Amino acid sequence: MSEHVLVEREEGLLTLRLHRLDKKNALTRAMYSRMAQVLEDADSDPSVRAVLICGGEQCFTSGNDIADFLQEPTTGMDSPVFAFMQALFDMKKPVVAAVAGPAVGIGTTLLLHCDLVYVSQDATLKMPFVALGLCPEYGSSFILPQMLGHAKAAELLLLGEAFTGAQAAEWGIANQALENGAATLTKAREMAKRFLHLPPKAVEVSKQLMRGPGREHLRQVIAEEGALFNQRLRSPEAIEALSAFMQRRKPDFGRFA
Ligand code: COA
Repeated sequence: MSEHVLVEREEGLLTLRLHRLDKKNALTRAMYSRMAQVLEDADSDPSVRAVLICGGEQCFTSGNDIADFLQEPTTGMDSPVFAFMQALFDMKKPVVAAVAGPAVGIGTTLLLHCDLVYVSQDATLKMPFVALGLCPEYGSSFILPQMLGHAKAAELLLLGEAFTGAQAAEWGIANQALENGAATLTKAREMAKRFLHLPPKAVEVSKQLMRGPGREHLRQVIAEEGALFNQRLRSPEAIEALSAFMQRRKPDFGRFA
């Protein structure tokens, strides 16, 4: 169990709150395992009608804990991060996300698998996988070009360009951008609570239909990305980039061909 993930219940709404603010809510293996378990339990608990994933009013998450990446790189689909993303991917119940402040790496990727996303307009979303010597993960290399077109997706995935909450809403990655973190959390909770008054089976089958026939292809993409990501985590390029972050210096890729 991780004390860095808080679980709250308000009638049929289960809130999963990231709470490791001194490390900008960087996600550890223990946090992923806990989140995976909470999501799986929520999906099989008939009293839960919707799930809200959030961080604090100033920070969603700085992504995977970089020290963890270096010390215990993921091995395969059975690692805690995959267990969490798999649980999110397979959720039958609606999942809403509230994002304020940074949403880096998996913090942005996971939004692509939520049903509703509310963001603070000055939130900073970023997928710096390539700059870290890694590659896109969990379906983003497929979903984002489809959603935004190749050119825009290339800026976000290859160059790792940061974008704001306001842009995320404009591009359809988020439903709405709110004026600040507090307003974002309030709005997301309000929208998530709407599901408590809807017939649950109708919500479930409708969500299932919206996922469409491309779902199995997406599953394959996720497996391919996962295998490459695990290889890249052990690459000299990634080790240089991740070590540079921990040592607070600029990475030097000059020696790589
Ligand atoms: N993994 C591990 N530690 C992290 C972290 C991460 N992903 N993100 C932040 N931290 C730690 C910092 O090392 C620092 O720890 P310290 O106080 O013990 O030195 C603390 O959290 C605060 O981070 P800091 O960088 O000082 O905060 P900031 O407000 O200046 O910047 C971010 C916030 C999110 C922009 C910046 O921390 C960042 O870029 N983090 C890395 C994001 C990343 O590349 N994630 C991986 C994606 S695959």
